[in-house]
Amino acid sequence: MDQTFVMFKPDCIERGLLTKVMSRFEDKGLRLVALKMLRVTPELAKQHYAEHVEKPFYPSLESFITAAPVVAAIYEGLDVVRVVREMLGATSGLKAAAGTIRGDFSASRQMNLVHASDSAESAAREIGIYFSEKEIVAWEPRCDDMLRAADEA
Ligand code: CMP
Repeated sequence: MDQTFVMFKPDCIERGLLTKVMSRFEDKGLRLVALKMLRVTPELAKQHYAEHVEKPFYPSLESFITAAPVVAAIYEGLDVVRVVREMLGATSGLKAAAGTIRGDFSASRQMNLVHASDSAESAAREIGIYFSEKEIVAWEPRCDDMLRAADEA
């Protein structure tokens, strides 16, 4: 089963949208295997967003991501990296399609509510930044038999 890293950003927490957005992933049948609330420090932000540190928007991104708590999560599922990215929609809420999380709840490029890994390699890196092995809970939901056929795994 694939894993992806998801972060519910400060705007999601401040706007009281956390459970509404998380319910999209529950409704989809994705398996939550780790969850915690934390405050992103400037150092952590630079590690997470290493590829953006030199970009002009980075100072603003760092101020935003450190401004309020975030909730970090790991989800499992078949092809979960792609599935979650498609559920989020385009980076900018102004461009994201209606029906996606950003398309329905965000009108901003920066305040786009949720971060999700863009590849299996990013997922492994980001999970390693935010979670230790012992914080990840392996479990088999009883209803898995009703979510997909055995030969789809
Ligand atoms: P995320 O998917 O977390 O990845 C990097 C984040 O930087 C992105 O979501 C946005 O919050 C932010 N971002 C990306 N591009 C821009 C931009 N051009 N201007 C401001 N913020 C951006």
